[in-house]
Amino acid sequence: MFDRLQPQSPDALLQLIKLHAADKRADTIDLGVGVYRTADGGTPVFRAVKAAEKRLLAEQESKAYLGPEGDTEFVKALMPHIFGPGEARMHGRLTGMQTPGGTGAVRLALALVKAAGGRRVLLGTPSWPNHAQIIEDLGLEAVLFDHVASEGTADAAAVLTHIAAGTADAVLLHACCHNPTGIDYSAEQWNELAQALADGSVFPIVDVAYQGLGRGMEEDAHGLRAILAAVPEAAVAYSCDKNFGLYRDRVGALYMLAADETVLPVAASNANALARANWSMPPDHGAAAVRLVLGDGALSRDWQEELTMMRDRIRSMREALASAADRAPGVGLAELLHGNGLFAMLKLSPEQIVRLREEHGVYMAASGRINVAGLTEANLPKFVDALARVSA
Ligand SMILES: Cc1ncc(COP(=O)(O)O)c(C=O)c1O
Repeated sequence: MFDRLQPQSPDALLQLIKLHAADKRADTIDLGVGVYRTADGGTPVFRAVKAAEKRLLAEQESKAYLGPEGDTEFVKALMPHIFGPGEARMHGRLTGMQTPGGTGAVRLALALVKAAGGRRVLLGTPSWPNHAQIIEDLGLEAVLFDHVASEGTADAAAVLTHIAAGTADAVLLHACCHNPTGIDYSAEQWNELAQALADGSVFPIVDVAYQGLGRGMEEDAHGLRAILAAVPEAAVAYSCDKNFGLYRDRVGALYMLAADETVLPVAASNANALARANWSMPPDHGAAAVRLVLGDGALSRDWQEELTMMRDRIRSMREALASAADRAPGVGLAELLHGNGLFAMLKLSPEQIVRLREEHGVYMAASGRINVAGLTEANLPKFVDALARVSA
């Protein structure tokens, strides 16, 4: 059986991790994998999560199965943070379930589109590579549009044209901190998108993987909330893996907004059946820790404080890079000021990216994507210097 399979190319970022680990130079800079890093280069467990985990260890009395919907109290505890005051207006039309990370939620949302007879999905390019992979794996068809306008802002016109023409059954949108560009729609563009989606027939799936890491928990939810206030139905794929630092614990949720109260249980029962066939039920530990953090005033404040500190550090690295723009003209450093979150795309050729790695020990994705959080006050001058040299 196995010799009938075609070899698959390994994940490019995981390859980069291996290359970096094998590089024994003392001052390498890793801007590859998409995790937050502190000024010391670590990716520690949040203080509030650690405290919640201790409590869980002491107090959890059973690990008996939950259902495919996972920890429903976790799913409810997140809702005010995601939906804000608009949640009350959607009462009876909105439900959610726990998923294995944001990936599980994206997969489930797209599987629901397929189960409902959908075939084509609008996807901005570039995007997180797994979006296209999941669409393809499900046998759906990606209809591509450009996410970025030439001047380094988001190109809403491209997707608006598709939505108005009804080119596809669904559209997959990044709520904030766009991966890989860091370029998000402006508030006005989100409002336009919401109106177009309300007027058209394209089903919106909003992928929220980085809430709180861009401009703030509320600010980062603006687009999502504008859409949900306008449309009859939508799906929201949420990840706690970045904003709670739970990456490998795989914590996410899928929320479904239905046109009315009678359709909602049908959508939920389909999502449940699909989850059951895919992973049966999601892993418990990380979601239980998030539930405990959000249910405790002091832990919740501490989580927000740590998240704010992370966001501020990312912002200050963006500002420092932008202020060094004239050291490496043409690379696009000035545009980092307008972007959000961990990622930005630099305008570098494949040869320049190889030179950065081989001559300067700077590791980044072959696309030119950098993880801004891989930079620190200590290594930033070296990075700018290396950019200046390869772009001279
Ligand atoms: C845009 C986007 N969506 C979803 C995810 C999924 O995150 P996870 O499955 O780790 O929760 C990621 C992670 O990199 C992402 O960048």
